[in-house]
Amino acid sequence: MREHKDLNPEVIRVGNEFFRIMLPEEKILKRVEEIGEEISKEYKGKFPILIGVLNGSFMFLADLMKNISIKCEMDFFKLSSYGDEKISSGKVRLLKELNADIEDRHVIIVEDIVDSGLSIKYIEELIGGMKPASMKVAALLLKPNSLKYDVKIDYIGFEIPDAFVVGYGLDYAQKYRNLRSIYALEE
Ligand code: IMP
Ligand code: MG
Repeated sequence: MREHKDLNPEVIRVGNEFFRIMLPEEKILKRVEEIGEEISKEYKGKFPILIGVLNGSFMFLADLMKNISIKCEMDFFKLSSYGDEKISSGKVRLLKELNADIEDRHVIIVEDIVDSGLSIKYIEELIGGMKPASMKVAALLLKPNSLKYDVKIDYIGFEIPDAFVVGYGLDYAQKYRNLRSIYALEE
C-alpha cells in the first residue's frame, strides 16, 4: 500500500480560510464497517437496494457496500446542491432520476450529510411515492443543531457540530471530495 501522508494532510488552506481535520480516515472506516454489519444483520434474507444521493454520498456508499455481507443492489439519483455556496438555498431539484424500479423493494437511502434536513425530507417523499416495501436512511454525518425539518435517520455515522465540512465525498465548490478524512472549516 502507498504511504498516504500526502493524501491525509492535517490542515488545508483555501484562500484565507483553513479546514482542519475533524474525522480521520481510520475513524470513518471503522464506523462505516459497523453500520455495514448492522445492515447485514437487519436485512438478512431481504435483498435491499442502497440508493445513493449524488454526488456527496459516492464514497460512503462504496465503503458501506464493501461491508455489507448479504445480497444487495445499488442505484443513484442526483439532487441540485448548494451550488458553490456554504449555506443552503432552501430549494431542492431533481437533476438525475433513479433507474431502478423500487416498488416493493427494501430501500436504504444513503446520504453524506444531513444539515437542515430539507434534502432528506424531499427524498423521503420522492422515494416513498414509489411504493417501496420499506425505507430507511443512512447518513454518514448529522448536524443535530442545524435540523429544521422533522426527519428520522436510521443509521448515523457521526453527529457533528455546525461547521462546514469537506472530504470523503463532501465538497466545497466541487473540490476536496478526494480527501480521505473529513475536515471542518475553522471559524
Ligand atoms: P440539507 O438539505 O440542509 O439537510 O443539506 C444536505 C445537503 O447539503 C447534503 O446532501 C450536502 O450535499 C450538502 N451539505 C450540507 N452540509 C454540508 C457541509 O458541511 N459540507 C458539504 N456539503 C454539505
Ligand atoms: Mg448531498
